[in-house]
Amino acid sequence: MRENFSYRLWRYDGAPGELIPLLQSAQEHFGYIPIRAINYISGVTGIPESDIYGVITFYSQFRLRPMGKYIIRACAGTACHVSGAKMIIETIEDELGIEVGDTSEDGMYTLNTVACIGCCSLAPVIMINDETYGRLTPASLRKLLREHIRKTGAKADSVVGASCGG
Ligand code: FES
Repeated sequence: MRENFSYRLWRYDGAPGELIPLLQSAQEHFGYIPIRAINYISGVTGIPESDIYGVITFYSQFRLRPMGKYIIRACAGTACHVSGAKMIIETIEDELGIEVGDTSEDGMYTLNTVACIGCCSLAPVIMINDETYGRLTPASLRKLLREHIRKTGAKADSVVGASCGG
Protein backbone atom coordinates (compact mmCIF):
# COMPACT_ATOMS: atom_id res chain seq x y z
CA MET A 1 0.00 0.00 0.00
CA ARG A 2 1.32 3.44 -0.91
CA GLU A 3 2.07 5.45 2.15
CA ASN A 4 1.57 9.16 2.04
CA PHE A 5 4.81 11.09 2.38
CA SER A 6 3.45 13.61 4.89
CA TYR A 7 1.87 10.88 6.97
CA ARG A 8 5.12 8.95 7.15
CA LEU A 9 7.00 12.10 8.07
CA TRP A 10 4.45 12.92 10.71
CA ARG A 11 4.90 9.42 12.20
CA TYR A 12 8.69 9.75 12.32
CA ASP A 13 9.87 9.04 15.87
CA GLY A 14 13.64 9.01 15.39
CA ALA A 15 13.89 5.23 15.22
CA PRO A 16 17.02 4.03 13.42
CA GLY A 17 16.41 2.95 9.84
CA GLU A 18 13.46 5.29 9.33
CA LEU A 19 15.24 7.59 6.90
CA ILE A 20 15.29 5.19 3.95
CA PRO A 21 11.55 4.40 4.03
CA LEU A 22 10.96 8.12 4.40
CA LEU A 23 13.04 8.85 1.31
CA GLN A 24 11.28 6.04 -0.57
CA SER A 25 7.98 7.58 0.36
CA ALA A 26 9.12 11.02 -0.82
CA GLN A 27 10.28 9.57 -4.14
CA GLU A 28 7.02 7.72 -4.60
CA HIS A 29 5.13 10.92 -3.91
CA PHE A 30 7.16 13.29 -6.11
CA GLY A 31 8.66 10.84 -8.63
CA TYR A 32 12.10 11.91 -7.37
CA ILE A 33 13.47 13.58 -4.26
CA PRO A 34 13.30 17.35 -4.68
CA ILE A 35 15.50 19.71 -2.65
CA ARG A 36 12.45 21.03 -0.85
CA ALA A 37 11.70 17.52 0.40
CA ILE A 38 15.24 17.19 1.73
CA ASN A 39 14.89 20.53 3.51
CA TYR A 40 11.57 19.47 4.94
CA ILE A 41 12.78 16.05 6.08
CA SER A 42 15.83 17.65 7.68
CA GLY A 43 13.68 20.22 9.47
CA VAL A 44 11.28 17.64 10.90
CA THR A 45 13.77 14.90 11.75
CA GLY A 46 16.77 17.00 12.74
CA ILE A 47 18.95 14.90 10.41
CA PRO A 48 21.46 17.24 8.71
CA GLU A 49 20.80 17.80 5.01
CA SER A 50 24.34 16.64 4.22
CA ASP A 51 23.59 13.28 5.85
CA ILE A 52 20.39 12.95 3.86
CA TYR A 53 22.27 13.74 0.64
CA GLY A 54 24.81 11.12 1.62
CA VAL A 55 22.14 8.46 1.90
CA ILE A 56 20.45 9.52 -1.36
CA THR A 57 23.67 9.42 -3.35
CA PHE A 58 24.77 6.13 -1.77
CA TYR A 59 21.70 4.19 -2.90
CA SER A 60 21.10 3.91 -6.64
CA GLN A 61 17.33 3.59 -6.09
CA PHE A 62 17.08 7.30 -5.28
CA ARG A 63 16.85 10.07 -7.86
CA LEU A 64 17.53 13.76 -7.31
CA ARG A 65 15.92 14.70 -10.62
CA PRO A 66 12.62 13.76 -12.25
CA MET A 67 12.69 10.99 -14.84
CA GLY A 68 13.54 12.22 -18.31
CA LYS A 69 11.07 12.52 -21.17
CA TYR A 70 12.91 9.60 -22.76
CA ILE A 71 13.88 6.59 -20.66
CA ILE A 72 16.81 4.66 -22.06
CA ARG A 73 16.98 1.07 -20.85
CA ALA A 74 20.33 -0.46 -21.66
CA CYS A 75 20.33 -4.22 -21.37
CA ALA A 76 23.07 -5.66 -19.19
CA GLY A 77 21.82 -9.26 -19.38
CA THR A 78 24.07 -12.17 -20.27
CA ALA A 79 23.58 -12.14 -24.05
CA CYS A 80 24.09 -8.39 -24.21
CA HIS A 81 26.98 -8.52 -21.78
CA VAL A 82 28.93 -10.91 -24.00
CA SER A 83 28.04 -8.76 -27.02
CA GLY A 84 29.51 -5.57 -25.60
CA ALA A 85 26.85 -4.10 -23.30
CA LYS A 86 29.53 -2.44 -21.19
CA MET A 87 30.76 -0.45 -24.18
CA ILE A 88 27.20 0.38 -25.13
CA ILE A 89 26.44 1.73 -21.68
CA GLU A 90 29.68 3.71 -21.59
CA THR A 91 28.86 5.18 -24.99
CA ILE A 92 25.47 6.38 -23.77
CA GLU A 93 27.04 7.84 -20.65
CA ASP A 94 29.65 9.62 -22.73
CA GLU A 95 27.24 10.86 -25.38
CA LEU A 96 24.64 12.19 -22.94
CA GLY A 97 26.99 13.18 -20.13
CA ILE A 98 25.13 11.14 -17.53
CA GLU A 99 25.73 7.98 -15.57
CA VAL A 100 23.39 5.04 -15.08
CA GLY A 101 20.51 6.19 -12.89
CA ASP A 102 20.91 9.85 -13.90
CA THR A 103 18.77 12.22 -15.90
CA SER A 104 20.33 14.67 -18.33
CA GLU A 105 20.51 18.35 -17.34
CA ASP A 106 17.82 19.26 -19.87
CA GLY A 107 15.46 16.67 -18.41
CA MET A 108 15.24 14.77 -21.70
CA TYR A 109 17.00 11.46 -21.00
CA THR A 110 17.21 9.06 -18.08
CA LEU A 111 19.57 6.11 -18.33
CA ASN A 112 18.84 2.83 -16.57
CA THR A 113 20.10 -0.69 -16.99
CA VAL A 114 17.90 -3.77 -17.08
CA ALA A 115 18.60 -7.48 -16.71
CA CYS A 116 17.06 -8.60 -20.02
CA ILE A 117 14.77 -6.89 -22.50
CA GLY A 118 13.78 -10.20 -24.06
CA CYS A 119 15.44 -9.55 -27.43
CA CYS A 120 18.60 -11.56 -26.82
CA SER A 121 18.98 -12.44 -30.51
CA LEU A 122 19.46 -8.71 -31.21
CA ALA A 123 22.14 -8.21 -28.54
CA PRO A 124 23.38 -5.75 -27.58
CA VAL A 125 20.05 -4.05 -27.14
CA ILE A 126 18.68 -0.81 -25.75
CA MET A 127 15.20 0.64 -25.56
CA ILE A 128 14.30 4.30 -25.78
CA ASN A 129 10.84 4.48 -24.29
CA ASP A 130 8.97 1.76 -26.23
CA GLU A 131 11.35 1.50 -29.20
CA THR A 132 13.89 -1.32 -29.30
CA TYR A 133 17.31 -0.94 -30.95
CA GLY A 134 19.55 -3.93 -31.42
CA ARG A 135 22.83 -5.14 -32.86
CA LEU A 136 24.35 -1.88 -31.76
CA THR A 137 27.94 -0.84 -31.99
CA PRO A 138 29.35 2.22 -30.23
CA ALA A 139 29.45 4.00 -33.60
CA SER A 140 25.88 3.13 -34.60
CA LEU A 141 24.70 4.04 -31.11
CA ARG A 142 26.34 7.45 -31.23
CA LYS A 143 24.65 8.04 -34.57
CA LEU A 144 21.32 6.89 -33.17
CA LEU A 145 21.57 9.13 -30.10
CA ARG A 146 22.66 12.18 -32.07
CA GLU A 147 19.84 11.63 -34.54
CA HIS A 148 17.39 11.14 -31.68
CA ILE A 149 18.51 14.35 -30.01
CA ARG A 150 18.39 16.24 -33.31
CA LYS A 151 14.91 15.05 -34.16
CA THR A 152 13.72 15.43 -30.56
CA GLY A 153 12.28 11.97 -30.44
CA ALA A 154 12.05 10.79 -34.03
CA LYS A 155 13.32 7.28 -34.55
CA ALA A 156 16.63 7.09 -36.37
CA ASP A 157 16.65 4.93 -39.46
CA SER A 158 20.26 3.92 -39.17
CA VAL A 159 19.85 1.32 -36.46
CA VAL A 160 17.68 -1.74 -36.17
CA GLY A 161 14.44 -0.89 -34.50
CA ALA A 162 12.72 -4.22 -34.20
CA SER A 163 10.12 -6.20 -32.44
CA CYS A 164 11.76 -9.26 -31.01
CA GLY A 165 10.99 -12.74 -29.98
CA GLY A 166 13.65 -13.21 -27.32
S1 FES B 1 20.23 -10.27 -22.46
FE1 FES B 1 19.89 -8.41 -23.46
S2 FES B 1 17.98 -8.71 -24.41
FE2 FES B 1 18.29 -10.54 -23.32
